[in-house]
Amino acid sequence: MFVLLVCALLTVAAADECRCTPNQWEGDMGLVLGSTYAGNTSLTEGTMQISYDAVKKMIVTRQSLMYNNIPVQQTIIEDFTNGISYTVTAQGCSSKALGPWIPNCIPSNATTANLRYGLGDNSVDARSYMVDYGTFMVYFAVTADTCVPVAEDVTGTFDGAQIMEVITFANIKAGISDSNVFAIPANCPTQNSVPLPGVNRRASMFRGYV
Ligand SMILES: *[C@@H]1O[C@H](CO)[C@@H](O)[C@H](O)[C@H]1NC(C)=O
Ligand SMILES: *[C@@H]1O[C@H](CO)[C@@H](O)[C@H](O)[C@H]1NC(C)=O
Repeated sequence: MFVLLVCALLTVAAADECRCTPNQWEGDMGLVLGSTYAGNTSLTEGTMQISYDAVKKMIVTRQSLMYNNIPVQQTIIEDFTNGISYTVTAQGCSSKALGPWIPNCIPSNATTANLRYGLGDNSVDARSYMVDYGTFMVYFAVTADTCVPVAEDVTGTFDGAQIMEVITFANIKAGISDSNVFAIPANCPTQNSVPLPGVNRRASMFRGYV
């Protein structure tokens, strides 16, 4: 009975629900990622500016992170059309192979609930989702009308590492303000290295593993 009721609610809700984030948007991300891999632990925290373009199939994140208290300033340019991810730092540029493009769309097996942030006039209707990826779980929230990302948590085992990741999104704007953000610097090698299994794969709807 309970299952039937949930199914009925989901079917009704699906008709006017957004299924994907806007095609082009930019914004700020706050990140905390704890990881244990083969006995080594790491803590990554910081901020990123993201530019997401589902038309170009490119995602750029300008990252200002602390990795185990070591500052990391880098720009990651992911070019899914050519399957290459570039890491640009003050020291230079490197590249590696990239997994397939996955649009920021809500998987059909996600379980969902309505929620609201804020109070009174200053509040926003949102939806939260949970997706079971087998070895890890992804929880995320988006605005109810346009699927603009609000937050995402990833917990579980990913590529052999136990992880707990929390991402928050803010200051999202539609569109790409300057398409030069996707320009690949001239010093970047086009030759891509062979990727480690699963590395540089997107774990989840928004970003997953850094
Ligand atoms: C664990 O960390 C040490 C020291 O940074 C490093 O040399 C070693 O390769 C790491 N082990 C794994 C499995 O990543
Ligand atoms: C839910 O859907 C995602 C995306 O298609 C998939 O990767 C995942 O394995 C699915 N989860 C289950 C429990 O089938």
